[in-house]
Amino acid sequence: MTRVFSGVKPTGHLTLGNYLGAMRQWAAVDQHEADAVFCIVDLHGMTVDHDPARLRRLTRQAATLLLAAGLDPELCTVFVQSHVDEHARLSYVLECVATDGEMRRMIQYKDKSARERARGGSVRLSLLTYPVLMAADILAYGAGEVPVGDDQAQHVELARDLAVRFNQRYGHTFVVPKATLPRVAARVMNLQEPTSKMGKSDDSGPGIVYLLDEPDVVRRKVLRAVTDSGREVVYDREGRPGVANLLEILAACTGGNPESLASVHQSYGALKKDTAEAVIEALGPVQARHKELCADPGYVEEVLRHGAEKARAMARPTVDTAYRAIGLLPPVAEPALNAAR
Ligand code: AMP
Ligand code: TRP
Repeated sequence: MTRVFSGVKPTGHLTLGNYLGAMRQWAAVDQHEADAVFCIVDLHGMTVDHDPARLRRLTRQAATLLLAAGLDPELCTVFVQSHVDEHARLSYVLECVATDGEMRRMIQYKDKSARERARGGSVRLSLLTYPVLMAADILAYGAGEVPVGDDQAQHVELARDLAVRFNQRYGHTFVVPKATLPRVAARVMNLQEPTSKMGKSDDSGPGIVYLLDEPDVVRRKVLRAVTDSGREVVYDREGRPGVANLLEILAACTGGNPESLASVHQSYGALKKDTAEAVIEALGPVQARHKELCADPGYVEEVLRHGAEKARAMARPTVDTAYRAIGLLPPVAEPALNAAR
């Protein structure tokens, strides 16, 4: 059975982009068809300025929302990255395989570091090395498939390159992974700025639908979405990004396709109304389940404890093999006490 691995960063409240681009697929397909492992990647949450208490809170909230979105611990493994040491252990080894030039070419690094510098801030070294840690997340589990949104495709490609390079130099150790993207909504755009991604750590609140937004808030945000000039509803990502984004969101929520949905809407107003209602309907069950789970924090903790135990057992042998292959001397096992007596 294929091993599938994916993760979400607890850097802000989860959004409709996270849900349609990734989580929904994990719950509806991956956990049923594959040996699926899902991780709240808290170490990745420290690559930009962070507040410790907020990171802890968002980590717990992300775990609760993954379960609320339908991940079932009987079918898949759900855990927190920092609970399993193997990620950091392997990341260092992969830093000895990756190159500085490769890291500096990553689009997300270029964007985020430029933004940080423009603000007069400093850039954490971990922002540069973060794709290596992400590669470690994937390779430690022998994952063949990595279901992500479009923005992560370049990082998965890097994980692939590092796996191939390591295997060539030091002997076959890693499964070579590939990204799998959703059919629609692989990149949900900000409703106020339809040429940029709807990202949870961005500041533009009115353009971001959060998974826990109340129906009235969702309705307001969608109805106020920026649309393009023109009146006819056509699906054209380049020319009409605002309308195309709404059509994709509607298609993802209703299972339709953006082209045919364009032809059944006579006006932008009608499209917005239908999209708002479809989003509210999609989020309703997630919000209801989230509320139930919040009333039982012990359950979520137990899921994470058990998940980390399972994850450790999966990752340890591969990471040990990589340590041996690259030339690190195995520690001498302690002599069994009983045998010595
Ligand atoms: P992140 O929030 O960056 O940790 O992303 C978690 C997952 O959600 C990754 O697979 C992302 O590719 C996906 N994702 C995040 N934002 C969006 C978006 N606006 N549209 C589609 N997928 C997204
Ligand atoms: N970097 C991913 C993001 O920002 C999150 C992530 C970390 C991830 N490790 C991963 C996704 C491993 C897939 C596989 O969305």
